Amino acid sequence: MSTPNYFYTHDNLLVLHHLNSELVDLIYLDPPFNSKRIYSAPVGSKAAGSSFKDMWTWQDVNEAYLESLIDKYPALVRFIMQIQQVHSKGMMAYITYMTQRLIEMHRVLKPTGSLYLHCDPTASHYLKVVLDAIFGKENFRNEIVWQRNDGRGKGSQHKAKKFGSNTDSIFFYTKSDTFYLKNTLDIEDKAESDKKFNKIDGEGRRYYTGIPLFRNKTMGDRPNLCFEWRGFRNPYSSGWRLSQARLEEEYQKGNVVITDEGKLERRKYLDDYEGKPLDNNWIDIPRIGRNEDTGYRTQKPLALLHRILHASSREGDLILDPFAGCATTCVAAEQLGRAWIGIDIEKQAVQILIERLEKGGALEDRLTFRQLGKDFIHRTDAPTRTDVVMEAPSFSIKERLYQAQAGRCNGCTTQFDIQHFEIDHIIPRAKGGGDYYENYQLLCGHCNRTKGDRPMEYLRQKIKAREAILAQLSFGE
Ligand SMILES: C[S@@+](CC[C@H](N)C(=O)[O-])C[C@H]1O[C@@H](n2cnc3c(N)ncnc32)[C@H](O)[C@@H]1O
Ligand SMILES: [Zn+2]
Repeated sequence: MSTPNYFYTHDNLLVLHHLNSELVDLIYLDPPFNSKRIYSAPVGSKAAGSSFKDMWTWQDVNEAYLESLIDKYPALVRFIMQIQQVHSKGMMAYITYMTQRLIEMHRVLKPTGSLYLHCDPTASHYLKVVLDAIFGKENFRNEIVWQRNDGRGKGSQHKAKKFGSNTDSIFFYTKSDTFYLKNTLDIEDKAESDKKFNKIDGEGRRYYTGIPLFRNKTMGDRPNLCFEWRGFRNPYSSGWRLSQARLEEEYQKGNVVITDEGKLERRKYLDDYEGKPLDNNWIDIPRIGRNEDTGYRTQKPLALLHRILHASSREGDLILDPFAGCATTCVAAEQLGRAWIGIDIEKQAVQILIERLEKGGALEDRLTFRQLGKDFIHRTDAPTRTDVVMEAPSFSIKERLYQAQAGRCNGCTTQFDIQHFEIDHIIPRAKGGGDYYENYQLLCGHCNRTKGDRPMEYLRQKIKAREAILAQLSFGE
């Protein structure tokens, strides 16, 4: 495969920030609901719900990234601020943390790309609003409901006085209305397909018969569907199933046949079969089996990832999982001939990935996979963007910024001559910000010193406070 595969052991926000725009075809993410500190309480567990608000704090939010959020998504920011009133500060912090990452994911997705966000009812309603704001409500495709358990209650609902909950939600969004989707299920198994397409014609093509050509007696009279065709006539006044023109067309295609015995037969050929239609209710993918269990607490079944990868990607496409865990997405991508990028902040994640790839990963005997490659590049630093020009601050950049800002400071908005300005990193380098034009701004010396390595929001607050004091002073005069 031409594109090398990558696994990053890092905070995904910083890795995402340094990936090229419009790079990947498909993103699947299964984020934690709790902070990395209480890692053992997974999404959907009892612990996650009960101690949620203690776990997410503002510390989990990268304040350096707040700036672009406030500038680009003011309505979304107002929504997020309300969450602390409706729910809690912890939920607000969690949603902010997710928003920062989802904005970057949207940027790195190709215009034809798709995103699947796996979550549970604790935060799904807030996350969907965020996705609507970032992807556009018109690009929401489905809420897939995945049934994790076999439906029998675990007993907890007796104590909890509610119905047992057995499902997760997976939100499916696309970046635009041009995208690939295969929303049917192939028959993977030859024996199963031979059983369904149980007849073979003179040319060796498999098909099945028995599809009715006439409407039932009870279906009501349809004079326009009553006609004679090649010597055959409808037995009831309810008529044929097909119009005369369609019938002739199907006959010419070989899907309607007059047999040697002079009988009519309608055929469905395997070659024309588009697969079983899939709906949003996924009840046929069981929780991980013992033979694929890596011991990783929040591991998802390979079959779930196969379903998503088959639906929204093709061979050779690039798949990204920014919350990779034990790298189920990477293993599935490898099995299905897709290129992949996995990111996880936990050091042990990559070790499990190596073991899984070595074992072959193909854990369901029924499915035959291509030979697994074991090669991937493991990085513990951030990548380098190649779609923006990396350039250290220089006088020519300063001149461009001076033009763009019309000679005004981005903090206090005062106009100065160019020599009074300093180039500032919007996202500080210490917080992962890059050396490229889009990440630079001009501040006057005073504003730059006030801000330091802090986010612009800090500087804005300071300026506001100063203005309020000045206003009071002038009022007092
Ligand atoms: C629910 S698990 C994903 C499980 C995965 N779907 C699988 O099948 O193994 C969430 C993962 O996100 C990782 N994580 C949490 N915060 C992260 C961050 N800021 N950057 C990268 N990974 C993070 C955790 O270490 C954890 O492995
Ligand atoms: Zn200033």
